[in-house]
Amino acid sequence: MIAATGSELRVVAAPGTASLICRGDVQTAVWVYDGKIPGPTLRLKQGEPVRIVVENKLDEETTVHWHGIRLPNAMDGVPGLTQPPIMPGETFTYEFTPPDAGTFWYHPHANSLEQLGRGLAGALIVEEREPVAVDRDVLWVLSDWRLTADGEIASGFGNRMEAAMSGRIGNTVTLNGVVPDDQPVRAGERVRLRLVNTSLARIMALRFEGHRPVIVAIDGQPCEPHEPASGRILLGPAMRIDLAIDMEGEPSRRYRVIDDFYEGLAYWLTHLAYTDEPPLRRDPLDGPLRLPPNPLPGPDLTTAERHELKLEGGMMQGMGGMMGHGRAVWAINGTSMTGDGHAGMPPLVTLAQGQSHVITMRNDTAWWHPMHLHGFSYRVLTRNGVPVPHNQWADTMLMAPKDIVEFAFVADSPGDWMLHCHVTDHQTAGLMTVLRVGNGRIRT
Ligand code: C2O
Ligand code: CU
Ligand code: CU
Repeated sequence: MIAATGSELRVVAAPGTASLICRGDVQTAVWVYDGKIPGPTLRLKQGEPVRIVVENKLDEETTVHWHGIRLPNAMDGVPGLTQPPIMPGETFTYEFTPPDAGTFWYHPHANSLEQLGRGLAGALIVEEREPVAVDRDVLWVLSDWRLTADGEIASGFGNRMEAAMSGRIGNTVTLNGVVPDDQPVRAGERVRLRLVNTSLARIMALRFEGHRPVIVAIDGQPCEPHEPASGRILLGPAMRIDLAIDMEGEPSRRYRVIDDFYEGLAYWLTHLAYTDEPPLRRDPLDGPLRLPPNPLPGPDLTTAERHELKLEGGMMQGMGGMMGHGRAVWAINGTSMTGDGHAGMPPLVTLAQGQSHVITMRNDTAWWHPMHLHGFSYRVLTRNGVPVPHNQWADTMLMAPKDIVEFAFVADSPGDWMLHCHVTDHQTAGLMTVLRVGNGRIRT
């Protein structure tokens, strides 16, 4: 994977081809950043300013959203809302200073279903100031594709029935742009494994047979290291999880990595394939890997303002009914914004700037939703009334049907910020809204 570094970067969005499946010479027509699936891994340094020039060589408008990065509103990449779209043949220069180290990603925010579904996505890694004590830093960009028998990307984006259900789930999962082979590892090594799910709709639940992965960061933000409940790593669309894995298996053996999120549809994603080298160290490393904290403002729960957001709509299980009208089949507090972002989206709520806010989000639907807030990382307080342990922060929270989650953040950054489901069909069919921080639009 190509790594770019430095304070001025250039990324070109254009049509291209890729060999996603290892079957003969099947080439899939895709849309790509810098000719690659996934796009180039952008490596930035925490606290250092960067300029990223995005050139649009597609036949349609685009923008780039820097998912999870806390940045000025004008750099957030939402067409109409925070910037004019980048027209074909034009460029836009994004400038920001990433405050937080961690695992992030970038993707278009225009015609998202098709642009993301045809391949426009890449990882963005903000490096810690001091290197972290692991033997290797490994990135898995996981993407789901719906391919035809000939290896073409299936048409039919924006199917209304799918939009009211679980979204466009594909039939082919790639790891760093290819249907994966074995992943070589060495006995005794400690690996930091960064997982990024760039899928339109596929939720993953990964299990590492014979291993005990420890979650050390969620959505880029360090948490207290902990093993996930029942050993499954839940990774909804747009989520990132950093794991620390001590390779405790035996040299020359292979261990499966299984995704069993959808009942009856478990498959093995890849294998950890141990080389025959002797273990790198005799005794496992002491203590878990702790990442240095990021400078997140801590919400003050005693003075916080409280808000409620209710997710509604979708196909009702067993009832066949569907809420909504027009393109919208989902709603937040009774209102539906559709598409990808456009001018004049009225904010659903205005949040006092500088103030702490607690949001209670209720999923009154029969479906799962990875709910994403732009511009902020929020502290996850409770889920279904139970305090969430391990100091977990997130920007994309996976909500099970009927879940009620409370999260809190300091609204320190003014502007109009999107909140939407990252199952892209859900977003474009109404599960989207805008939260305004401060008095209104920020113009530069
Ligand atoms: Cu990755 Cu509007 O989001
Ligand atoms: Cu985002
Ligand atoms: Cu959703």
